[in-house]
Amino acid sequence: MEKRIYLDYAATTPLAEEVNRAVYAFGQKDTGNPSSPHRFGQQAKILLEEARDIIAAGLNCKPGEIIFTSGGTESNNAAITGTLNAVDSIGKHIILSALEHPSVLETAAYLERIGFEISLIQPDANGLITPVQVGKSIRPDTVLASIMYVNNETGIVHDSAGIAEICHKNNIIVHCDAVQAFGKIPLDTAKLNADLLSVSAHKVYGPKGIGALIIKKGTPFSGIHFGGGQEANRRPGTENLAGVIGFAEAVKLLEQSKKDMAYAGNLQRLFESAIKQEIPSAVIIGEQMKRTSFISAIAFPGIHNENMLLNLDLAGIAVSVGSACSSGSIKQSHVLKAMALPDEIINSTIRFSYGRYTKPKELDETVNTIKQIIKRLA
Ligand SMILES: Cc1ncc(COP(=O)(O)O)c(C=O)c1O
Repeated sequence: MEKRIYLDYAATTPLAEEVNRAVYAFGQKDTGNPSSPHRFGQQAKILLEEARDIIAAGLNCKPGEIIFTSGGTESNNAAITGTLNAVDSIGKHIILSALEHPSVLETAAYLERIGFEISLIQPDANGLITPVQVGKSIRPDTVLASIMYVNNETGIVHDSAGIAEICHKNNIIVHCDAVQAFGKIPLDTAKLNADLLSVSAHKVYGPKGIGALIIKKGTPFSGIHFGGGQEANRRPGTENLAGVIGFAEAVKLLEQSKKDMAYAGNLQRLFESAIKQEIPSAVIIGEQMKRTSFISAIAFPGIHNENMLLNLDLAGIAVSVGSACSSGSIKQSHVLKAMALPDEIINSTIRFSYGRYTKPKELDETVNTIKQIIKRLA
């Protein structure tokens, strides 16, 4: 059989078998629209709220603080625009980091076009945004800061609780994109203390196209969609109930996430030490930093990452480079650029990401294949 090794868990995780079964079982039921007053609708409403309770327990927030969205992108869009819709009379200045996902950066670019002002914080040499940097960017008219928890390209973890603390001292609303943190590092939304927090199901073995935005009680928010009272008037439209049920099942499985984290930690150690031993010229991005165990961003100086990705793909191994556009073409990573890394590193960095179903021998095979590709291309 053709070799297939999937090392792109940060792009999306495989669907857990248990999730697949839960969604299928739901599909066998005759449920109505959760907003309908009849029995069919009310049955659907019960399933929706049961799922919300499970997800709230997994995140340590209140069920009423969760709105279901179509994923991390919509959660990020809604968090920023929805908050600013509600507070734009107070101030028009927003703080972001240059490391954010495009769903944050491009929302901000739109807001800039309609009159908001953005301060874009550049990371320090270690690829980190610190609470001190955020503090220095605060102005009297700052209303919102949006800084991600775990970076999706490097796996570097931010001090999100520290960032929330400095913002709250200055009466600033905080949004945290926790899409790459949920299930990957211990995440307790109560401790983190962000006012808004984005998560996505397909990064935690759930279905694609479903996510959540946690809006802490009392946070000003005026939704960005119109035409229905669902999700307590914060996100109109009939809920994606099959997706929500799959999401809840995935969150139930995350109870084993401590086991997942330990497992990924072993994989990361194994993989990175083999790379260092076999390919001494390789550079592990953020090696000394606090990182999630699920991502290894590694540069192979002298080999363009596009070339490496295509050669690995030909060998049946799926990896990614910093930024894949929707067209599938590759552009330079804005994250590695913001870290002020040399072009030689930026252009040769590959993101390997793994998880629950990755086998150590797949990583050994990957190291061997990379060695062969380097020999061929160098
Ligand atoms: C940090 C981060 N934020 C947001 C998103 C977008 O999430 P989704 O694919 O669910 O729209 C991603 C997806 O890669 C991500 O890594």
